[in-house]
Amino acid sequence: MPSQTDLPQSHDFQYISDLAASMIVDLVTSKPDACIALPTGHTPIAMYASLVRLSRERQTDWSSVLCFALDDYLDAPASATFEAFLAQHILDPLQIPDANRFSPVRIDGYDSLIEASGGLDLTILGIGLNGHIAFNEPGTPAASYTHCVWLTESTRLANRDAFATLDEVPHTGITMGIATIQASRKILLLAQGEKKKAIVEQAFKGPITAQVPASLLQNHSDLHLMCDFWVR
Ligand code: GLP
Repeated sequence: MPSQTDLPQSHDFQYISDLAASMIVDLVTSKPDACIALPTGHTPIAMYASLVRLSRERQTDWSSVLCFALDDYLDAPASATFEAFLAQHILDPLQIPDANRFSPVRIDGYDSLIEASGGLDLTILGIGLNGHIAFNEPGTPAASYTHCVWLTESTRLANRDAFATLDEVPHTGITMGIATIQASRKILLLAQGEKKKAIVEQAFKGPITAQVPASLLQNHSDLHLMCDFWVR
């Protein structure tokens, strides 16, 4: 079981987002050339806003941090890509140099590049309602590296908001694999809202199974589960 960071009884997701942002700023302060893997989705938006605010307050230098997108679509218009999302919410506000922004869509040998960069110091994750992490859908083996995927209907529906119609939601993506993520020295998994409670409990209190990809992280030695509900 990962550590569930001690929270006050009145915790809310802003508190959790601030806490995550503070852990990230501490990492960048202690290691200015840290390698960090970044998620998309609704969940990290408040954390990114908090990270930008805190970095400005503390004058954190992000100029040498290497930022790796966890995943992206392969068949989305440019404005709907995760690259665009990350640029808007975090990379542009923190003025991350173009040379330090990496996406699996643009790079052959993503895992080799990560390894050559010293390995991921931190991976920040959300979780899908079907237990996916990044775009690792149910059934993805633990020994998977960066690979292309067909998205499930559950994942397409979860990402529906960014598109005019469900038909426009992409069917294919590329993602870091489970082994890529497992190799990260630290992992923060954020989950918001009661609708994520059942899958989080299944992933972290249930059996380790590729059918619930997040459960494959149970044995990671530095996994922090940060959510606005209690996992029993
Ligand atoms: C997408 C992303 C995942 C993310 C998930 C959950 O599928 N590829 O990395 O964890 O959405 O998103 P949300 O935070 O909107 O629930």
